[in-house]
Amino acid sequence: MSVRTTTALAAAAVVLGTAAATVFGVGALLPGAQPRTADARTPDRTAGPVVLAHRGASGYAPENTLAAVDAAKALGIDWVENDVQRTKDGVLVVVHDTDLKRTTDVEEVFPDRAPWAVKDFTAAEIAQLDAGSWFGERFAETRVPTLTQFLHRLDRNRQKLLLEIKSPASYPGIERDILRVLRKEGWLGPSHVRNRLVIQSFGADSIKEVHALRPDVTTGFLGTPEVTDLPSYAAFTDQINPSYTTIGADYVAAVQRLKGPHGKRLRVNTWTVDSAADAAKVHAYGVDGIISNHPDVVRDATR
Ligand code: G3P
Ligand code: CA
Repeated sequence: MSVRTTTALAAAAVVLGTAAATVFGVGALLPGAQPRTADARTPDRTAGPVVLAHRGASGYAPENTLAAVDAAKALGIDWVENDVQRTKDGVLVVVHDTDLKRTTDVEEVFPDRAPWAVKDFTAAEIAQLDAGSWFGERFAETRVPTLTQFLHRLDRNRQKLLLEIKSPASYPGIERDILRVLRKEGWLGPSHVRNRLVIQSFGADSIKEVHALRPDVTTGFLGTPEVTDLPSYAAFTDQINPSYTTIGADYVAAVQRLKGPHGKRLRVNTWTVDSAADAAKVHAYGVDGIISNHPDVVRDATR
């Protein structure tokens, strides 16, 4: 069966409901279970797209916190996306914005430190911040995790990581720093590299650097390169991960026609899809993965 035929059948299953899904083989999945994939580079196209929790299950818990990792786990979601930056004293922390204002109480705790950039604070200072109350009082005192803490939680939960190097131009050498932490925590061993880790960035040079330093690691480029430029990306990235608003079935097929640096076809993980309607739409495009703040909604819409 061709990829396009499989995609059409899967889209039909969304419309026809559970009975049709069973006919097409996805009904065998347990409720809440993630589709099995052979490894980080080889999709299992019979099980629907892989669903990834964006900044953790950030529709249900404060983004990029251990609570968001646990929320993804509670939903049965294996893959967690995060954003990694570096503190003034060189510690890797998990936070999206390049300043701390939106997701912490930094303006109250350090009123004289505008513009409150992540890179201007030490890890000890960031550890004092409340990164949960902005989302809901029950998350008060939730902290900005270090990358090390984040990896420990993923290990405890037996989850997988789509690690985004955020704003790499602001942090020269962060690729080596990230790989150093991953190695120290056992995330560059064969099992993790094969099954549980992808490193992505909007910065092509950053991904090239990761690929040069550790050619075995699966990589992803965030964005929507011109189709004519895709072959040059395929030299260093295994995934092209675009906003869902920028793609159609033709673009997905153009990416998937190419082979990446590990000799396997390029994959497409699209973001940030939060409605069932949009999930069904990008599923019909044939994407390999869908990154979502509400991964349960996406999973239910694509099984
Ligand atoms: O993983 C895709 C997505 O996270 C990229 O955008 O701004 O949420 O980091 P952003
Ligand atoms: Ca991100």
